[in-house]
Amino acid sequence: MSAIRKCLFPAAGYGTRFLPVTKAMPKEMLPIVNKPLIQYGVEEAARAGITDMAFVTGRGKRALEDHFDISYELEREIAGSERESLLAETRRLVRECHFSYTRQLEVRGLGHAILSGETLIGDKPFAVLLADDFCVTEDAGVLAQLAELYSEHNCSIVAVEEVPPAEISSYGIIDGEERSPGLYRVTDMVEKPDPADAPGNLAVIGRYVLTPDIFDILRRTPPGRNSEIQITDALKTQARKGRVLAWRFRGRRFDCGSIAGFMAANNFVWSNEA
Ligand code: G1P
Repeated sequence: MSAIRKCLFPAAGYGTRFLPVTKAMPKEMLPIVNKPLIQYGVEEAARAGITDMAFVTGRGKRALEDHFDISYELEREIAGSERESLLAETRRLVRECHFSYTRQLEVRGLGHAILSGETLIGDKPFAVLLADDFCVTEDAGVLAQLAELYSEHNCSIVAVEEVPPAEISSYGIIDGEERSPGLYRVTDMVEKPDPADAPGNLAVIGRYVLTPDIFDILRRTPPGRNSEIQITDALKTQARKGRVLAWRFRGRRFDCGSIAGFMAANNFVWSNEA
């Protein structure tokens, strides 16, 4: 059984790049064909053996709670019809997982969002999944890959991928020593560096396994890039003690925080399903 039982889903952001569709709807509910991004995230966590799904939400995000609930009217409406199968996976998640919610009162960065989730997580290692990084894998999902590495190494682990120079300033970038193919011991991390100052081109994507000491570190971490509390800065503190690994994950990521990435993901899934 996996040591990672809980996954935190930071979901308080406004999704302004997608306005007007995100005016009254959470960006996490944007669909890849007919399934919302957040459900893909929860499915990936469940496939990694995780049973506790913890959401950090904000105002205007109630649709997330409704999605992972039973809608009795709808159930009655489709019972016995061929449409019932469309809800099977969602129902299974609702029955087999536990969902909890807290609100991030101010939007002060990903580090602050993760700290806001501390009461839902407690003092065990946990995963973090950013639903707008949509990942497709052939075998184990990205979180399952990280959970397996965690069971061997017992330290924080981030998923990384190589990005072109023009995209370096959009991500947390790591520096590290490759210990085995694809696995790095992280020596430095910088949030959204200028490409000229970046320690490399390995970008952190929205999949993390974190040890719970990260909460105390986050409490002591001053605002960084964009005056926000950055998880990258807190991880850098762990990395100085040699306690962070980076894994060049197997699979493909679509940046569904951008319209271009979101369209590409939809086209990819649609053409693979059709
Ligand atoms: C966040 C993190 C960044 C990471 C990225 C992955 O940035 O701060 O380090 O590389 O997620 O998607 P955001 O995209 O929220 O600005």
